[in-house]
Amino acid sequence: TTPLRLGIAGLGTVGAGVVKIVRQKADLLRERTGRPIEIVAVSARNRDTDRGVSLSDYAWEDDPVALARRDDVDVFVELMGGADGPAKAATEAALDSGTDVVTANKAMLAHHGQALAERAEAHDAILRFEAAVAGGIPVIKALTEGLAGNEITRVMGVMNGTCNYILTRMEGAGLTYQEAFDEADALGYLEADPELDVGGIDAGHKLALLSSIAFGTQVAFDAVELEGIGRVTIDDIRQAADMDFKIKLLGVCRMTGRGLEQRMAPCLVPASSPLGQLDGGTNMVVIEGDQVGQIVMRGAGAGEGPTASAVMGDVMDLARGFRVSTFGQSAGSLVAATPARTATP
Ligand code: HSE
Repeated sequence: TTPLRLGIAGLGTVGAGVVKIVRQKADLLRERTGRPIEIVAVSARNRDTDRGVSLSDYAWEDDPVALARRDDVDVFVELMGGADGPAKAATEAALDSGTDVVTANKAMLAHHGQALAERAEAHDAILRFEAAVAGGIPVIKALTEGLAGNEITRVMGVMNGTCNYILTRMEGAGLTYQEAFDEADALGYLEADPELDVGGIDAGHKLALLSSIAFGTQVAFDAVELEGIGRVTIDDIRQAADMDFKIKLLGVCRMTGRGLEQRMAPCLVPASSPLGQLDGGTNMVVIEGDQVGQIVMRGAGAGEGPTASAVMGDVMDLARGFRVSTFGQSAGSLVAATPARTATP
């Protein structure tokens, strides 16, 4: 049987995690998909970093665009990050070559998802991104496959583990916002630009992707009503606790009569609810469908194993010949969503 050949761009935590799974679980992957999954080439900023795994079997490309264009790459695995720059250039190069793409890049997809989906379709390439939303929680697979027979009525979630960690420490240990922020920083939780986390932007990217998938609309990050956690005080948290509520950075999307509502903001949630009980650096996604009712999924939203797990889910679907893009069969059929806040009632 022909192997599925991967080119991996970006060898940070997630990239190294994917390499480890492909190397260490080769037999299992082959049994489950019916064909070998092999890495042929890799690319990263620094060749000499110790990543805890050998790369000597793979061709090295300094330029991710060159990697994306290689004839011997069946699936371009983009794990560099960043909305624009090399990640986007390389993703476009892969799609233009008709090469399938698996990416974890929520910022790129939130800003350019529709254009990339159209580009993929124009070249008969597949674009998948389970790992871009809520890390290890297979929420996209749940929405697009398991719940395909439902009309989704609402999706809610805590989708930034760092913010949930900060709020949990303020609540449980009585730390100020700044103390909890510094603690998260010391633990290495914060993104290189912390505003992506605490400003709600990273979570907003994920919500924009989920809304698109849940409601069949074009990704509209600019229409997400966004507020971060920087203004949440200990007093807010204590007053909420007095009434048996907790404060969570909660994303909510639903289709209303006035259009698509997408909000990512600090919210009161009942302390005894699943969302209220979500402590620490974890994620939770709550999906409501007209047939299934409510489903709650909880798990790690970041980290090597969980995020690599989601990347592998997409790669293995492609190995099995399940060639369906995350945005669906036809990018052209996604409708532009009217943001609920600007529509006239
Ligand atoms: N900074 C993100 C989080 C990582 O804390 O959830 C995954 O996007």
